[in-house]
Amino acid sequence: MASTRPKRPRNPAVLLLLALLQLSLRASKINCATLHDNNTDALWLQAFRHGIKSDPSGWFSSWNSSANHCLWPGVRCSRKHPGRVVALQLFGLNLTGRIGSSIGNLTFLRTLNLSTNGFSGRLPPLNHLQKLQVFDLSRNRLHDNIPYAIANCSSLREIDLSRNILVGKIPPKVALLSNLSLLRLSRNNLTGTIPPRLGNITSMRRLALAYNKLTGSIPDELGKLTNIWYLALGGNRLSGGFPGCLFNLSNSLQYLSLEFNMLSKELPPNIGDDLPNLQLLLLNDNIFEGQIPASLGNARWLQILQLGNNNLTGTIGEWIGKLTRLQYLSLQANRFTKTLPSSLGQLTQLDTLNLGNNKFEGPIPPALGNLQLLSYLDLSQNNLEGNIPIQLGSLTSLYKLDLSSNKLTGKFS
Ligand SMILES: *[C@@H]1O[C@H](CO)[C@@H](O)[C@H](O)[C@H]1NC(C)=O
Ligand SMILES: *[C@@H]1O[C@H](CO)[C@@H](O)[C@H](O)[C@H]1NC(C)=O
Ligand SMILES: *[C@@H]1O[C@H](CO)[C@@H](O)[C@H](O)[C@H]1NC(C)=O
Ligand SMILES: *[C@@H]1O[C@H](CO)[C@@H](O)[C@H](O)[C@H]1NC(C)=O
Ligand SMILES: *[C@@H]1O[C@H](CO)[C@@H](O)[C@H](O)[C@H]1NC(C)=O
Ligand SMILES: *[C@@H]1O[C@H](CO)[C@@H](O)[C@H](O)[C@H]1NC(C)=O
Ligand SMILES: *[C@@H]1O[C@H](CO)[C@@H](O)[C@H](O)[C@H]1NC(C)=O
Ligand SMILES: *[C@@H]1O[C@H](CO)[C@@H](O)[C@H](O)[C@H]1NC(C)=O
Ligand SMILES: *[C@@H]1O[C@H](CO)[C@@H](O)[C@H](O)[C@H]1NC(C)=O
Ligand SMILES: *[C@@H]1O[C@H](CO)[C@@H](O)[C@H](O)[C@H]1NC(C)=O
Ligand SMILES: *[C@@H]1O[C@H](CO)[C@@H](O)[C@H](O)[C@H]1NC(C)=O
Repeated sequence: MASTRPKRPRNPAVLLLLALLQLSLRASKINCATLHDNNTDALWLQAFRHGIKSDPSGWFSSWNSSANHCLWPGVRCSRKHPGRVVALQLFGLNLTGRIGSSIGNLTFLRTLNLSTNGFSGRLPPLNHLQKLQVFDLSRNRLHDNIPYAIANCSSLREIDLSRNILVGKIPPKVALLSNLSLLRLSRNNLTGTIPPRLGNITSMRRLALAYNKLTGSIPDELGKLTNIWYLALGGNRLSGGFPGCLFNLSNSLQYLSLEFNMLSKELPPNIGDDLPNLQLLLLNDNIFEGQIPASLGNARWLQILQLGNNNLTGTIGEWIGKLTRLQYLSLQANRFTKTLPSSLGQLTQLDTLNLGNNKFEGPIPPALGNLQLLSYLDLSQNNLEGNIPIQLGSLTSLYKLDLSSNKLTGKFS
């Protein structure tokens, strides 16, 4: 037993547990299937518990030695290997304190999900967790670097460390995790570039690195992620043009968000033909210029399209009317000119339409009155002329209407 003693044997609960372990071992065959002498997971769990400073919901009151640790709430054990913990899931309990390194001794662990708590300190050591598949410590207050040893947990399928205060670089060796399908590191303070090697993880389905401080261009290698449907890189300092490598993902990509970066140049003319499955496209708050390619009208599954706060020019063609599934369309704060296409009236699913702060001219299309679900309509700060069409009066869901700073005349009756 000596070698299995935890670091803090002073704690009465651990002493009691040790005593129980010894008792059950002496009682030998009675019912010790779950408490083998090679089984110390109960001790590592107790050691983990000692790292916890506050437990406002009293979750741990039932983690006591009168019950087998496999029955403790949040713990699940293996069927094949009695007593070995395969899952530890403590979600949304407002727990604070540290995630002690004893977690790294739960070598049968497949799922570690401590998301949405107040854990602080560093990430626990993981190098012995060869069976770990799901690793979710998102929405905590963990700081410091992502340990390179994460690349040693070769069974990992899902990593979510979003919404912490992690710094440093994304370890390129993550690319060794060949079964990874989710890598979410959004909303930390990560720096450096996006490792091109991530393109080797062809099992990847969701990659989210948004709202960090990543720099450089979007590596071409991401074009090898042919199973990816969700790519979120917004809110960084990424530069270069629209990543043409994404056109290799035409069968899979549904969700693409690159907003709030420093991406520039013209949008590729084939964008809508080569990404026909897009449902969400966020390119707002960059410095894209030139016209919106008419091919975008062929991305007919689009529900959300945000191109606001760029340097786009030219006209909005009638092609926009083909995007009949659009619920959210914002093109504000660009330099669009000429008249508004009347085909906007075909976008009957629209909830939000923001075309403000451009150089649109001519009349407001009466067809906008067809947009019965519209709750937000902003056409302000343009050069629109003429009367406000009476048809707008039928927009009964509107809660915000801004037509200010135009050249409109007449009455709205
Ligand atoms: C634990 O010990 C038992 C009996 O010695 C053995 O059958 C079992 O395989 C061991 N389990 C592990 C995980 O080593
Ligand atoms: C110990 O935990 C069990 C459930 O795991 C609970 O029913 C029991 O009330 C707890 N005992 C004490 C003394 O807290
Ligand atoms: C966690 O804290 C939030 C905000 O203080 C509170 O609304 C929520 O009920 C708490 N949850 C638990 C499980 O204690
Ligand atoms: C992990 O287990 C080893 C023995 O297997 C022990 O020496 C070490 O102290 C344990 N680590 C922690 C953090 O409990
Ligand atoms: C962690 O648990 C929460 C709550 O059950 C769940 O919503 C979330 O998807 C889990 N994380 C992963 C990566 O599976
Ligand atoms: C990762 O695994 C390799 C090979 O098993 C080992 O040499 C290396 O020390 C491990 N790295 C860490 C950080 O545990
Ligand atoms: C990856 O997944 C496959 C299929 O589930 C499995 O056979 C393989 O062992 C896994 N690889 C690793 C390194 O875990
Ligand atoms: C990132 O760092 C800045 C200071 O450089 C700090 O103000 C901000 O709160 C940090 N954000 C996160 C999510 O840690
Ligand atoms: C990535 O793939 C390329 C070519 O397929 C290979 O040469 C390279 O070694 C791989 N890198 C890693 C880190 O696996
Ligand atoms: C994209 O696909 C083409 C043809 O399938 C291939 O030649 C090219 O290397 C791919 N690009 C990337 C970045 O994967
Ligand atoms: C927008 O484009 C104009 C004309 O091409 C250029 O003068 C201006 O600097 C651009 N603005 C930004 C923010 O790049």
